[in-house]
Amino acid sequence: MKYSGTVTSRLPNAGTSIFAVMSGLANEVGAINLSQGFPDFPISMDLVKLVNKYMRKGLNQYAPMPGGLTLREEIAVKAFETYGISYDPQTEITVTAGATEAIFSVITAMIHPGDEAIVIEPAYDSYAPAVELSGGVVRYSSLQVPSYSVNWPEVKSLINSRTKMIMINTPHNPTGSVLLATDLKELDRITRKTDIVVMSDEVYEHLIFDGIRHESVCYYPDLASRSFVIGSFGKTFHTTGWKTGFILAPAVLMAEVRKVHQFVVFASNTPIQYAVADFLKNKENYLQLPAFYQQKRDLFAGLVKNSRFRIIPSYGTYFQLLDYSAISGEKEMDFAVRVTKEFGVASVPVSPFYHNKQDNKVLRFCFAKTEETLTKAAEILCTI
Ligand SMILES: Cc1ncc(COP(=O)(O)O)c(C=O)c1O
Repeated sequence: MKYSGTVTSRLPNAGTSIFAVMSGLANEVGAINLSQGFPDFPISMDLVKLVNKYMRKGLNQYAPMPGGLTLREEIAVKAFETYGISYDPQTEITVTAGATEAIFSVITAMIHPGDEAIVIEPAYDSYAPAVELSGGVVRYSSLQVPSYSVNWPEVKSLINSRTKMIMINTPHNPTGSVLLATDLKELDRITRKTDIVVMSDEVYEHLIFDGIRHESVCYYPDLASRSFVIGSFGKTFHTTGWKTGFILAPAVLMAEVRKVHQFVVFASNTPIQYAVADFLKNKENYLQLPAFYQQKRDLFAGLVKNSRFRIIPSYGTYFQLLDYSAISGEKEMDFAVRVTKEFGVASVPVSPFYHNKQDNKVLRFCFAKTEETLTKAAEILCTI
C-alpha cells in the first residue's frame, strides 16, 4: 500500500532493536541463539496450572487499572520481606504490562519538554527514546571499563537545574555488573534535597551471584522516597512472554504515573496477575534464582575459560560479556554477525547500547539456556 503524505518521525534515529536483529539472523542461519535475553527451558508447570485455573474460573476481563489488589498485596509483602520497606498496595504499587511499559509510563509522567534525564551507558534501549518522546533531553555518562563501574563525579557534573531524573539499572543489562552500597550512598547524597527523581530498573533483582546483596534503592529510605523501583515477573519467573511487571513509588509520584499507565494499557493481563500473586506466596520460587542462574553462569564461563575470548565477570543478570580483542579487530556488530553466520552462535554486540556506538570489542551472551545449549555454544566458541 502506498502512503502519499509526509511522515515526520518522532524517533528518527530508532531502527529495529538489536535483539530482534540478532535473533532474526540466528533463526535465518540456524545458529544457537544466545542473543536475546530469554530462557529456552520450560517454566514452572504450577504457574501454568494457576493461569489455567484462573482462566477457567472466568477471570478473563479487565483487571483494575493499578493491578489486581491480591497481586499488589503480595508485591508489598515481597518488598517488605526482602528489603524491609513498606509500600501501600492501594497507592504505591502498580502492576504494568512488563517493565517496558513501567519504564515508559514513569518517564512519560515525569519528563516535561526541556527536562533532562541522566542515562548511564551502556543502557537498556528503551530509556532514551521515552525521554525523547516526552520532549526531554538525555545526558549520558559512561560506565568505566573494564569494571563497568559508575563514574559518579561525571554523573554529578551533568546535574543542573533542568535535571529531572537519573536512571540506574542493577544488576545491569548488558554488562552483568552490579551497583554496590557505596554507589547507592553516592546517588542518595547527590540527589538529596533536590527535585531529581530516580528510576531504578531492578528487573534482575533476584538474579545476583556469589552471595552479593542486591543493592535496591529500597534499602535506603531517603533515596526510596524519590525513586521509582521497576520490577519484572518475566525475569523472575522465566516468563518474558507474559509481559507482567510492576512499579513501586511514593503515592504522590505514583498518582502521576497511573495517569499515564491508564492511557497506555489501562490494565495488564488478568489471569496472569492472579496466578503470579499465588506463586509469590512461596518465597522459594524466587529465592532459588541466584543458585539456579549461578550454576548456569559457572557452567558457561567454565567452558569458555580456555577459549581466546576473555571473560568479563558477571555478578548478576543472565548475561555474560566476552571480550574478543585477542581474536579480531573487527567492529562488534561485524564480529557478532560473522560469528553467527560462520560459526553458528548468536550474541549481541554491546555498542548499540551506547548512543555513540562505543566499541569495546565485547559481545553479550545470554546464559538463560539449557545445559545442552550452553555446552554446544561454548564448544563452538572455543574453536574461534
Ligand atoms: C534492564 C531491563 N529493563 C527492562 C526490561 C524489560 O522487561 P520486560 O520484559 O518485563 O518488559 C529488560 C528486558 O530485557 C531489561 O533487561
